[in-house]
Amino acid sequence: MDKIIINGGKKLRGEVNISGSKNSALPILFATLLTDEPCTIENVPSLADINTTIAFLNFIGKRAVKNGSNVSTSVSAKYKHIAPYDLVRKMRASVLIMGPLLARLNRVDVSLPGGCAIGARPIDIHLEAFKKLGADIEVEGGYVKTVAKKGLEGNEIKFRFPSVGATENILLAAVYAKGKTKIINAAKEPEIIDLADMLNKMGSKISGAGTKTITIEGVEKLSGVKHSVIPDRIEAATYLIAAAITRGEILLKDVNPKHLKAVTDKLKKCGMKIEETENTIFAKWVKDLKPCDISTAVYPGFPTDVQAQWMALMCLLKGKCSIRENVFENRFLHVAELQRLGADLTVDGKFVYIKGVERFSGAPVMVSDLRAGAALALAGLAAKGRSSISRIYHLDRGYEFLEKKLKDLGADIKRVKSEK
Ligand code: UD1
Repeated sequence: MDKIIINGGKKLRGEVNISGSKNSALPILFATLLTDEPCTIENVPSLADINTTIAFLNFIGKRAVKNGSNVSTSVSAKYKHIAPYDLVRKMRASVLIMGPLLARLNRVDVSLPGGCAIGARPIDIHLEAFKKLGADIEVEGGYVKTVAKKGLEGNEIKFRFPSVGATENILLAAVYAKGKTKIINAAKEPEIIDLADMLNKMGSKISGAGTKTITIEGVEKLSGVKHSVIPDRIEAATYLIAAAITRGEILLKDVNPKHLKAVTDKLKKCGMKIEETENTIFAKWVKDLKPCDISTAVYPGFPTDVQAQWMALMCLLKGKCSIRENVFENRFLHVAELQRLGADLTVDGKFVYIKGVERFSGAPVMVSDLRAGAALALAGLAAKGRSSISRIYHLDRGYEFLEKKLKDLGADIKRVKSEK
């Protein structure tokens, strides 16, 4: 297992190109299963989760090949309807195989995804919705077995929570359902709009994506498509915070500032200088920053996927603030590791209370999940001395060319093979 070694204290300066969104690319790649015609998906980042998805598509019966940032897909064999544990366990988003396979084959057996470090993450909202579309579901031998004997039929589905994954899965299933499907209390994230845009280019009839109510009129056939994935707003937020935490200045290119408003508004409130054009954001540290509370929420609220990175920054600001995590029940695993670097943090249920410290001191730390890893990398960049970050395979799931991008911005960072 590799480690990242960071000698902290360098101000980051320069430009960084933001990669395509992981969380958009995953459902979009699964959506290619909905057509037998060739598809080209552009701006796909090179990440472990993308490789897992491509392997998954190939296992199911697609020919999916990644060349640079393009993925091309065609059909190679009759689709299988079984998603085995070995593929599902690597990535929770594997559950997105259900929608397209139910739509195409009227059946799918998926190994149960199980929990993960940041909480139980059940899939009850997905399953309830599939039932509403006419599927019968039983759990047997560790598999969720889903069959729609008469095919899927459109219906009105009300989510108890606007789950991103469930909204995507139901879009993917309902495009071929008979009649009209209405999702009430749907997720509004930009990744949902990206998926709907792609599906509509393929010939589906989806309206309302990006709002609380999405309507899908079932169609008979979808065609091939060429589609470019939106920029990764979570990667972008991480680089904005890198500028703040290292007291530097970074120009983010190929980014959509509208998707980042919740984060840039808070950074401005702290005292960062932020300038935007249609597809760039310039972030500059000009004065001591003030701490600022956040409370995570579904889009357009402050993203839970930026909570850990925000915490790393708040730890170093003079004064007190709090963070409230509302989306996941156990997303504070980075707290103990930040404390190893010198942070003053108190966890109380959904809250973390932060008292600013003068500095972090570099130390060995361990990554528990993707965004916790980003927080530790940011903390290491700001720390005095050397930090070694282990279990970075979590980071490789979500940050394309992380060391290169940070090095180009002036960081002293390298990847080494871990001594056993
Ligand atoms: C997606 C993102 C993830 C982000 C999250 C919230 C991808 C690949 N991942 O995850 O980075 O942190 O949105 O913005 O896009 N829940 C249930 N039952 C369900 C489904 C979800 O209780 O059937 C709960 C989850 O446990 C969690 C919350 O709802 O507490 C949010 O989950 P959801 O919006 O579904 O997130 P994901 O799609 O898994």
